[in-house]
Amino acid sequence: MQLEQAINDRRSIRGFTDQPVPKELLEEVIALANRAPSSMNTQPWHLHVLTGAPLERVRKGNTERMLGGVTPTRDIEDYAEYEGEHRKRQIEIAVQLFEAMGIERHDAERRQDWVMRGFRQFDAPVSIVVCFDRSLLNNTIAHFDTGAMTYGLVLAAWDKGLGAVINGQGIMQSPVVREVAGIPDDQVILTCVALGWPDPDFVANSVVSRRRPISNVTRFLGFENEG
Ligand SMILES: Cc1cc2nc3c(=O)[nH]c(=O)nc-3n(C[C@H](O)[C@H](O)[C@H](O)COP(=O)(O)O)c2cc1C
Repeated sequence: MQLEQAINDRRSIRGFTDQPVPKELLEEVIALANRAPSSMNTQPWHLHVLTGAPLERVRKGNTERMLGGVTPTRDIEDYAEYEGEHRKRQIEIAVQLFEAMGIERHDAERRQDWVMRGFRQFDAPVSIVVCFDRSLLNNTIAHFDTGAMTYGLVLAAWDKGLGAVINGQGIMQSPVVREVAGIPDDQVILTCVALGWPDPDFVANSVVSRRRPISNVTRFLGFENEG
């Protein structure tokens, strides 16, 4: 029952209090995430947990380069623009967030401000940079495995009262992150997780994203009452 509640209640958190997160609590969360299954138990992931001065340097470097027009540089092959149904869902969540925040469609300044917050990892007190072994860069299963671990991470964080948002924005300028965090060359930066204590007054934290009904994502075969 507790797992069901955690899965149903968890949502991405994009506004945090200034309260620091104890290292011991982060270790507990990571120990839970580290129980994730992986192909042949290969456990290809590595986590780099940043707070304080190094995190500020990452935010600054990422933001300055994005503002300066430096082309985003990810370690993994980046998606093209989403199209069709994926684009529709992307817009739907953006609309939900902007409506909650009271950001009007044509308010370029506040929209830009929101994007900037993303580049700063929503000013979270902690960022966990999620990597995996470069030797498995072209092995899609390693991406899958690391993703499974990352979902465990945000769920475990939620269970402890922490909020998190998995985000690509914070590592758009991956070379900055690599340099500041001293991430070795044999690891690929996949994504990052901004994490901290949810700010109860930050309205976007209440946004509940929608899901397709399971009938749209699932087929059952060989069941007696199918069809
Ligand atoms: C791989 C990945 C990357 C994401 N990148 C961002 C991001 O850059 N900025 C952001 O605000 N949210 C980001 N998100 C959060 C998604 O927008 C969010 O998970 C989705 O809208 C569903 O909402 P929920 O997490 O509240 O259920 C990302 C999520 C994932 C899994």
